[in-house]
This record gives sequence, structure tokens and C-alpha cells, in this order.
Amino acid sequence: MEEVRSSSLLRSTIINLMVDFYMKTILTGIRSNSVLTIGNYLGALLPMVRLANKHSKDSQINIFVPDLHSIIADIDGDLQSNVIRTLKYYLAAGLEINENVHIYRQSYVPAHSELCWILNCVATMGETSRMIQYKEKSKGQESCNVGIFDYPILMAADILLYDAAYVPIGEDQFQHIELTRNLAMRFNNRFGEIFTVPVKTEDQVKFMEVSEGIRIRDLLNPEKKMSKSTKAENSKIMLDDEPEKAAKKIMSATTDSLGKVKFDMFNQPGISNLLQIEALINDVPLQDVIGAWAGETRYGELKKKVAESVFNMLTDFQAKMAEISDEQIYKLLEDGEIYANKVANAKLLEAQKAFGLR
Ligand code: TYM
Repeated sequence: MEEVRSSSLLRSTIINLMVDFYMKTILTGIRSNSVLTIGNYLGALLPMVRLANKHSKDSQINIFVPDLHSIIADIDGDLQSNVIRTLKYYLAAGLEINENVHIYRQSYVPAHSELCWILNCVATMGETSRMIQYKEKSKGQESCNVGIFDYPILMAADILLYDAAYVPIGEDQFQHIELTRNLAMRFNNRFGEIFTVPVKTEDQVKFMEVSEGIRIRDLLNPEKKMSKSTKAENSKIMLDDEPEKAAKKIMSATTDSLGKVKFDMFNQPGISNLLQIEALINDVPLQDVIGAWAGETRYGELKKKVAESVFNMLTDFQAKMAEISDEQIYKLLEDGEIYANKVANAKLLEAQKAFGLR
């Protein structure tokens, strides 16, 4: 018994060492229900692009569109064009393509739904019902679809199929990473080391090189996160907003009456949000931006600077978007989906064998 335990310990130690020092996988996905907000962009897309460009020589970079996750909710426009547009965003944000960067669509890799079903039989109703996103998304709906409930399990499948240890995401998705970790550990305890367990959320944050999980706030109601589903136009900046209009939204953002520029999400969420946006857009550590504005009492000055950063970012980003063709994306998808199916099918087979399905 002791021998079995030490050989399994040795095996998992070797796997972890390989993840850290050999080819790790960094993976993320963004749903394509509509044009994205700068919350999606600064919270997940841009950090992923920066990490991909830094690590793609010695890591697999998986960027996919969870189109099956999209259909749990209404789609604004046409799903196919939304998917292509979302993938263009990555290129416009500066993603450098090489043989380790893989772009694919979730529904083109059927292993995702297959593993989701297997994980459904590992997850419990209790842990899935505790998901805040499920509670929020189902709130006020007379009868919510089962996809909304099952969405974190499909997300776990998206991650575990590729042995991804690092998953750059915004703070609202942290609970789903913890669920993914629990499912992977439960599966591995029962069947042996089949899945790489993604690193804890605090280590995800360190890997993303940010001081805390990113949550870009609603501009009018900074207690809430910025969300594409919020109706009020001035509460959010969309990636296709005219830069001039976006700058005006920053100028009319809700702040407070304390009269000091300080990073304090609890008492000054509006000001803190502007400091966070400024740091992320310019790729400067948040602490440096906080330091640069310490002692400033005129909120208008901070707003002017952030408005200028948003204006420049959108101007540049939208010009780049216009240069990317649909064909470029379809070509990347062709290669990416061959790669994704190969890797995902191999991992799925291991999980199927564990359960006696093969
Ligand atoms: P989704 O499509 O709702 O959001 C995509 C990403 O954007 C981040 N985000 C934000 N970050 C900071 N501030 C905000 N205001 C903000 N709004 C959104 C989200 O945290 C997310 O990282 N289930 C996921 C998609 C998904 C996925 C995956 C992600 C499916 N499978 C596997 C990673 C790995 C979702 O619905 O994200």
C-alpha cells in the first residue's frame, strides 16, 4: 500500500514539474453573445494576449470561443459573425501567432460536451447550485434553462481536456476555477492522475502579473461589474464605441465626494475603477498608477487622463480590427481545430476508460 502511495506521489510530482518547466498550457475562452465591453477586454482578453506573447515559445496557448456557452443566453446578432469578431479581437489586441498558439471553436471539438457529461456524474447538485453566476443568471427568470446550471461543468471540461494549469480570467470566473480544481482532484483521487489540476486562483492572479483579480466596474454604478447586459449605455464601454463617445462616458463616470484620489474599492469604487483601467490599458503596474496620482484632489484631472487612454486605445484597436479579414480567422481555425480535436480526444479517451466506457 505504502509503495502504491509513494509511486502515485512520485507520478503527480513529475507531472507538476513537467507542467511548470516543460510545456504548460495556458487557456482561456470568451463567449460571443455580442460586442464585448472593455471589462472583457481588460479583464481577460488583453491579459491573455500579453501572457501568450510572453510564454508561447515554451507553452501551448489555447484560445477558444465557447459557443456552446453562448447559447445559454440570448445572442445579439448572428452567432457565427460574433464568433469571428471575437477571434479578431485577439489579433487586434496584438496576439502573435506561432505553432504553439491554437484558436478553435468549442462546438467544433465534440470532446468538450462528452467530457462535460462525464463530469456531470462527478459533480454534485450542491456544489453546482452554489455558483454565484448561476444564481445571478437565473435570478428573476420564471424557468431557467438547464444549460445555465450546467455551464460551470462544461467550463471545467474545456479546461481539463487540455491539462491547462493557467486560465487567465476575470474575477467573476474564480469560483468556476475552484470548482474545476475540485472536480479534477475528485476524479484523480478515484481513478489516478488523469487531469492536471489548474493552479489556485491566487496563483492564477500571480501568473497574470496583477495584484488582484480584475473586475472592471460599471461606470455609473461602480459597486457592480461592467457587463454587456446592463441596459444603460453610459454604464459600459463597448469595443466598437466611437472613441469620442467612450471618452465622454469616462468623463461622466460616477465617483464620490471624498476629494482624494485613492485606491479603495470599498469606499471609492468609482475612482479605484478609473485607476485600474488606466493601469491595464497602459500595461503599468497598478501600484505605480496609484503612486503617480497620490495626493491629487481633482477628479477631473484623473478622468481626463483615463478618457485620453481609452480614446487612444479604442482608436488604435478599431484601426487594427479593420485590417483583419474573416479568411485569416478561418485559416487559423482550420489548424487550431485539428490540434484541439487531437489533444481533447486523447484526454477524453483516458476519462472514458476510467469510467469503463471504453
Ligand atoms: P464571459 O464570456 O462572461 O466573460 C469572458 C471573460 O471576461 C471576463 N470579464 C471581466 N473581467 C473583468 N471585469 C469585467 N467587468 C468583466 N466582465 C467579464 C470574465 O471573467 C471572463 O474571463 N464561462 C466563461 C467563458 C468560458 C471559459 C471557459 C473561460 C467558458 N469556458 C474556460 C475560461 C476557460 C464566461 O462566461 O465568460
